This record gives sequence, C-alpha cells and structure tokens, in this order.
Amino acid sequence: MVTQTAANLQQLRDSALEHLWVYLREPSDMAEKGEPAVYVSGEGVRVTDAQGNTSIDAMSGLWLKNVGYGRKEIADAAYEQMLKLTYMPMGTTTEPTIRLAEKLAEITPGDLSRSFFTSGGSESVETAIKLTRAYFKRVGEPARIKFISRRDSYHGATAGALALGGSSLYPRGDYEPLMPGTFHVPQPNFYRCEYGSETAEQCAERCVQAVEDTIKFQGPETVAAVIAEPVSSPMGAVVPAPNYWPRLREVCDKYGALLIADEVITGFGRTGKMFACEHWGVTPDIMTVAKGITSGYIPMGGAITRRNIADAFIGSQRVSFRHVITFGGHPVAAAAALRNIQIMEDEELVENAARMGAYLLDGLKELQDKHPMIGDARGLGLMCGMELVRDRETKEPYPADADLGNRLTSGFQSNGLILRGGDNMNVAPPLCVTASEIDEIISTMDKVFTQVSRELG
Ligand SMILES: Cc1ncc(COP(=O)(O)O)c(C=O)c1O
Repeated sequence: MVTQTAANLQQLRDSALEHLWVYLREPSDMAEKGEPAVYVSGEGVRVTDAQGNTSIDAMSGLWLKNVGYGRKEIADAAYEQMLKLTYMPMGTTTEPTIRLAEKLAEITPGDLSRSFFTSGGSESVETAIKLTRAYFKRVGEPARIKFISRRDSYHGATAGALALGGSSLYPRGDYEPLMPGTFHVPQPNFYRCEYGSETAEQCAERCVQAVEDTIKFQGPETVAAVIAEPVSSPMGAVVPAPNYWPRLREVCDKYGALLIADEVITGFGRTGKMFACEHWGVTPDIMTVAKGITSGYIPMGGAITRRNIADAFIGSQRVSFRHVITFGGHPVAAAAALRNIQIMEDEELVENAARMGAYLLDGLKELQDKHPMIGDARGLGLMCGMELVRDRETKEPYPADADLGNRLTSGFQSNGLILRGGDNMNVAPPLCVTASEIDEIISTMDKVFTQVSRELG
C-alpha cells in the first residue's frame, strides 16, 4: 500500500483548500478539521485514505459503487477499449455503445428499448425533460409542457433537473428563477405524511390523488409528465407503499401524461431488483439511469424510452431529436458498463442486494429498538435510511445547535465507517456486501449512537 508522507499529504490538502471545490464542503471548515480526507485505494466495500486508514464505505460513494471497489475486470475492459478506439466520427457509433443499448433493452422492464446516453444523472434527467417536450410537439400536443414532481425529491444539479427536485435539504434559492412549468406534490413518506394518514397505503393513495388534482387544476392538455424516484433519497430512503406506483401509472395513462422513473440511484440492482419499478410491475415511459450503470468506474448515464416515444422521432415527417451531449455513449464508458452489468449478473449481486438488504434493515430496526433517537428505519434492498428525532412522540428533530450530523459523521469516521449523519440518513453499502460486513456496520453504528446519545443527554 502506498501512503503519502505527512508533508506530501499536507501539501495536497493545502492545494485542495486553495484550488478545489469539494462538494458540499466549505474550505475554512475543512481547514479547521485537517480535511479534506484524501483517498487512495479501494477493495470490495472498503476504501483506504492517504494515511493508510481503511473504512467501510456504507454509502457506496454516492449510491453508485454497486459491484464494489477495485474490480480489475472493469478497468481491463475500459483499457482494452481505450487501446482500440476512444471516440468516433460525428454521427456514427461504436460496437460497445450499440451492445450496451441492446443490453439495456433486454434488462429494463416492458418495451423500454431505445437509449440516449449521457455523462451522468443530471444530464439524463435533462434529456428526459427535452425528450418529453419534443415528443409532444411531434405527436400534435404542443401545449403539454408542464412537469409534476414531488417535494423532498432530488433529480440533479442542472437547471431543469434542479427545478424538478425540491427539498429543504437542498435549498434552491441561490439559483432562482428556476425553470417555469414545474409543480410539486407530496412525497409518499408515511412517517411524515402531509395528510396525517393512518396507513402507508392511505398515504400513497392521497399522494397520487394530489397528482391527479394537480393535473386537473393545471389542465390535462398542458401536463407533459410526472417524474419520481422509485425510492427517494433526500429524506432517507423513502419507500412508497406498493399501491403508489401502479396508481401513478393509472393516473398518467388516464390524462395522457408520460411517467418518468428516475432510477439514477435505484437502477442496477440497488433495491434488490435490477430496476426498482419491477417491484410494482410498472413500466415507465422514460427511465433515467446513471451511477450504477458503470458502478461509478467512469461517468455515464442515459434516458431509456419506450418504443412509442422513440418512434415519434422516426420517419421522413419527423424531425430528429435535437440534443447532443459530447460524451454521451462514449465507447470506453460503454465497455465499462457492459463489464459491470456482466459482473452483476455472473455474481448474482441483485439477488445479494435483496438478501443483504433485508438483513441490513433488520439490523437497523434492532438499532431503532435500542436507540430512542431513531424515529424510523426503512428501506428496500440495499437502499436503507433512517430518520432521527429528539422526541419519538412529536417527531421533533434535534435543534441545529445539537450539531447531530457532525457528531455522528465524525463518530462514524473515527470508527472506520463512512456514513453521513444527520436528521435523515442513508445507509447503502455496495451490492457485494456480506453479512459479516453488515454486522460490522451495525455494531459501529450502535457504538456511535450510544456515544452521541450520551453526549446529547
Ligand atoms: C434520483 C437522482 N436523479 C438524478 C441525480 C443526478 O445525478 P448526477 O449527480 O450524476 O448528475 C441524482 C444524484 O444523486 C439522483 O439521486
């Protein structure tokens, strides 16, 4: 293992503090804490920093290291493609890109069958927005320009995707005015149901009713699509009741709006099915993917459309989809994605995600029984989450000055566990995680929760 000398590492950190934007971090805070941490290697579910400290990454990077770290086969596939061809002449394609589109048509539900590749999740959502509007222009319904999404959702950082998302955890005020024509409805989060529902099914039904009411209020002829993450991340793995997605499909069909499933996190096995929509037997009109498509070995994403959507762009009367993303469908990324999906299939990692996800959730529920600060523990497959509260009865969160998030995050970190603490937490290790690694995650969380509850009295 190559570790940095102390002087080298300090120089790297100083340079980062001077020249780098580190996501969601502020330089003076990092400087005070001797950060940013600099990581140098990874293997399976573990990563090692420049000082030689090894931790379990229970967040899979950002829900993306599905096959785990250090898979040489993916590096080899990318390397071999790099030696052959690293881009293509304009208006042409390459074999790995075609094979990947073919593979996605095979493994995605229903007649999702044509892929537009991008470099990541935000671009995939942006592509879905443009495809939707362009589609309705092609089929003679040009007034359909509006989008309905849910509060407490996240769809990406670019202008359109940012407007679709919306959560107090990711305030958007700095970037206003946002894309007009987006309308938000409640998230089917039973723990915090906006309607005070008595069952998860009732919460789901009322949230779908809100979609229908919004469509009617806006005028059905103006609504282009409803977009939703099958399991939503910002508030900590919000899993809707089983009636939600089928009813969402029905309402979209009733009013002629498209249904877009944003599977950027949930796609490629995360929830214990290859795609989360399969849990409820629903085929969306457009599915957006990224992250797990290459397990984050190289940037890639895509918007995958059903046949009827794609067909609207075919033929002499049709104008092609005017949308170019330079690195979309890059042959090296496609080769890496194909090898990544093959590993998932060969090693039955989707099945492992279902089994280990159930085991992880049991562990989180045991923690909930033991620690009053855990108000809710939930999840589907290896997309688990928790909500922390000061008072279980009132569900009141901890006040900001309790510094709950930082206390937990640094407690996890000093015990070799990478997890972001806060009122809403996500726990999502790589799909190759074993039962004994989950035991480690749970026992470390137990220790840190015990310590932080003691500190907070
Ligand atoms: C559901 C969802 N959609 C889109 C995005 C944006 O993806 P990216 O960060 O790759 O642009 C994310 C990122 O976390 C996401 O969770």
